[in-house]
Amino acid sequence: MPINIRRATIDDIICMQNANLHNLPENYMMKYYLYHILSWPEASFVATTTSNVFDEEDLKDEEGEQQQEEDDHLVINDPITGREIKLDPTYVNPGEKLVGYVLVKMNDDPEQQDQPPNGHITSLSVMRTYRRMGIAENLMRQALFALRELHDAEYVSLHVRQSNRAALHLYRDTLEFEVLRIEKGYYQDGEDAYAMKKVLDLKELAIANFVHRKKANDIGEKPEDDLKSDLLEELIQGGLDDVVV
Ligand SMILES: CC(C)(COP(=O)(O)OP(=O)(O)OC[C@H]1O[C@@H](n2cnc3c(N)ncnc32)[C@H](O)[C@@H]1OP(=O)(O)O)[C@@H](O)C(=O)NCCC(=O)NCCS
Repeated sequence: MPINIRRATIDDIICMQNANLHNLPENYMMKYYLYHILSWPEASFVATTTSNVFDEEDLKDEEGEQQQEEDDHLVINDPITGREIKLDPTYVNPGEKLVGYVLVKMNDDPEQQDQPPNGHITSLSVMRTYRRMGIAENLMRQALFALRELHDAEYVSLHVRQSNRAALHLYRDTLEFEVLRIEKGYYQDGEDAYAMKKVLDLKELAIANFVHRKKANDIGEKPEDDLKSDLLEELIQGGLDDVVV
């Protein structure tokens, strides 16, 4: 099934927020997405497909229950007629469905102005049905290249839950981020985070080198899938206040 990776635009943010709500416990107000896209329009990316398949898995909630279709629609009023219009937040355009995104910013913390320019990965997720196809890796590589090439970012940082093994594999083993430190109780539910960083080297990030690496990897063995269940499912089952770290 063909997947298209392209820059995120303002027209995508309802779908990005929808994907975020389905996949992660860290959620943001719409204005925060807007802030990213308006401030650094080249840095965030989305993955879409024009396949019209209705993926029931993607519409399951955190407890695996099928959501009412109604729940997945936003209702807005047409500014001219005043009539109610239902928006399906899965589709960015008729027939174009969002299956993943990476939300990225430059570090604009006034207290860190003494640092060289550096980027930050705010959020990344891929809808369940589309995982283990290389979408997150591709989204990340595009974003890292854009940060280095267009914003002169010398390095990029991110946080990841200690229990999130899939993401940890992606960042540490595939994308070669280094673990800087553990930040105790970083998340709202008390879970610790790995603070990670990657120095951005334009040569290494060039698409040609990435393709080369992929081919070399295809010959070798794939790491075993060690994510026993979905991140959100794990958190919900354990009770959000009672996450084992
Ligand atoms: C983490 C996540 C973004 C990975 O997306 P994805 O598109 O499936 O990842 P990719 O297919 O690009 O995987 C790239 C590499 O990451 C690692 N990886 C990804 N998922 C993995 C899993 N379940 N178990 C072990 N390694 C995994 C592998 O090294 C993989 O390379 P390989 O397929 O060649 O072995 C996705 O599982 C997700 O959306 N999870 C919920 C949200 C989330 O945790 N976001 C990150 C917050 S910091």
